[in-house]
Amino acid sequence: MKGRDIELVIVDSAKELASIVAARLADAARAGGNIVLTGGQTPKLAYEQAAKEEADWSRVELWWGDERCVPPDDQASNYGMTKKALLDRLAQPPAVIHRMQGELGRDDGAAEYKHELDGVGVFDLVLLGLGPDGHIASLFPGFPTLDVTNRDVVGSDAGHEPFIDRISLTLPRLCRTHELLFIVVGEGKADVAARALAGERSRETPGSLARATEGTTQAVLDQAAAAKLPR
Ligand code: 6PG
Repeated sequence: MKGRDIELVIVDSAKELASIVAARLADAARAGGNIVLTGGQTPKLAYEQAAKEEADWSRVELWWGDERCVPPDDQASNYGMTKKALLDRLAQPPAVIHRMQGELGRDDGAAEYKHELDGVGVFDLVLLGLGPDGHIASLFPGFPTLDVTNRDVVGSDAGHEPFIDRISLTLPRLCRTHELLFIVVGEGKADVAARALAGERSRETPGSLARATEGTTQAVLDQAAAAKLPR
């Protein structure tokens, strides 16, 4: 399988993918630094598995690539999902958990997170899911937020389910990382995975624009999601 500026790792199942991503997360945790998590459904199993690795997360500062504008205990909250799947299960939790405050709304929430990020340099690891429409974090196809280069954080309308306002890191901020790791599962993602990981750069497929500017980009996919990648 071939990608563009990206190393592809194809595994047999979603379960295997979760184990690989969990091991990568645990390694990154042991190394310490700034780790950026993704929301959505795909990472949940990986986060649960990562908790079982019993790594020491105490030298990690934890961030999110995006958040839905809901309180942290809402079931749509990316932070809430991560808390249940990972954070509540860690014996040695991250030194600092930088939650996006969805409950403040998109603009105030984005402004707060911008302050929180002030002075933070290159991220160590950024995880990214890939939406069925090609979105990454909460940067949606064709949205003007995709073109924002002078800010680290934006507020946005939702371009996809759940239709709740969003807070998102911008493309340059997400890409300023030593390692960027896409995680993609299921046949419903096969078309978009081919476009994002092997196609030309396009604003219609935000995933095609996301590559680490300070290091390496990798994608872990199951066979179903990888089915349409060029061989
Ligand atoms: C979110 C995200 C989003 C997600 C993709 C893929 O808040 O929804 O962070 O960018 O990663 O939509 O989501 P799934 O893994 O659920 O398909």
